Amino acid sequence: MKDIALVTGASSGLGLEFAKLFAQDGYDLVLVARSADKLDALAHELDQVYDVTAWTVAADLSTPEGLATLTSFTRSSGLVISALVNNAGFGDCADFAQADIAKLDQMVELNIRALMDLSYYYLGDMLERNSGLILNVASVAGFEPGPGMATYFASKAFVLSFSEALAEELRGTGIHVTALCPGTTATKFWNVAEAGTLSMLRQAVMAKPEDVAAYGYESLKRGRVVAVPGIGNKLMVNAPRFVPRALVRRIVRELLRKNG
Ligand SMILES: NC(=O)c1ccc[n+]([C@@H]2O[C@H](COP(=O)([O-])OP(=O)(O)OC[C@H]3O[C@@H](n4cnc5c(N)ncnc54)[C@H](OP(=O)(O)O)[C@@H]3O)[C@@H](O)[C@H]2O)c1
Repeated sequence: MKDIALVTGASSGLGLEFAKLFAQDGYDLVLVARSADKLDALAHELDQVYDVTAWTVAADLSTPEGLATLTSFTRSSGLVISALVNNAGFGDCADFAQADIAKLDQMVELNIRALMDLSYYYLGDMLERNSGLILNVASVAGFEPGPGMATYFASKAFVLSFSEALAEELRGTGIHVTALCPGTTATKFWNVAEAGTLSMLRQAVMAKPEDVAAYGYESLKRGRVVAVPGIGNKLMVNAPRFVPRALVRRIVRELLRKNG
């Protein structure tokens, strides 16, 4: 039986690129997101180009029902997941007091709870087989506080901390966990986050999603626990160690300021 990779947020951006990378290596796929049409189109492409089977599950993973839809589907179809990619996530550019609390609740449910619950659920089979891969998409945002995107940055700090801890708990087993920490990447993430005229984006060089996904995939295969693509991002995540925290907060505040 072929290995199966489950990719959340596979309808666009990094998730779509992860799906292609696993397909290239001969994995069958379970593709998950809310946009059924985009998932079906990708499944068709993967079948045509790489000759792999891709099952699609349209589900809102920020809800308990969406999570149950996914886990019930894989269980009832007898699909054993070898590689789990917890990639679905979104951000929101607004000061906390002005943000829509329902949107922030949904963000926490998706970026944190779905990632944790799916890791727990699929780890069961992986432990039984003493084999598996878990790729959690964190962010450079996980390394510092994010005034202007406070909840998003905190959610990625969770993903980074959780993934590192899980990797250590599983060290010596056949299961490997990687936290991929991208910097700004050219996907629809920034439109969804309503970034508008964010000062950071005017200075930032946007990485290509295919390059970031390839780095994450390679890191997963090599057993790297924390994967930060690009020299600029590596410098950025290490800088807070040498700069007072108050200064870090102020710099990020300026980077995340909307300039009208
Ligand atoms: N782009 C960046 O600069 C950047 C930097 C660092 C980290 N990241 C992280 O990278 C990951 C992927 O984002 P991306 O940049 O590829 O953005 P993207 O193109 O907006 O992709 C997000 C994916 O998540 C899915 N999704 C969103 N809400 C969902 C929900 N409630 N239930 C199920 N699926 C949902 C979307 O599909 P549907 O809309 O069809 O549901 C889409 O497939 C995220 O975790 C993000 O935080 C991005």
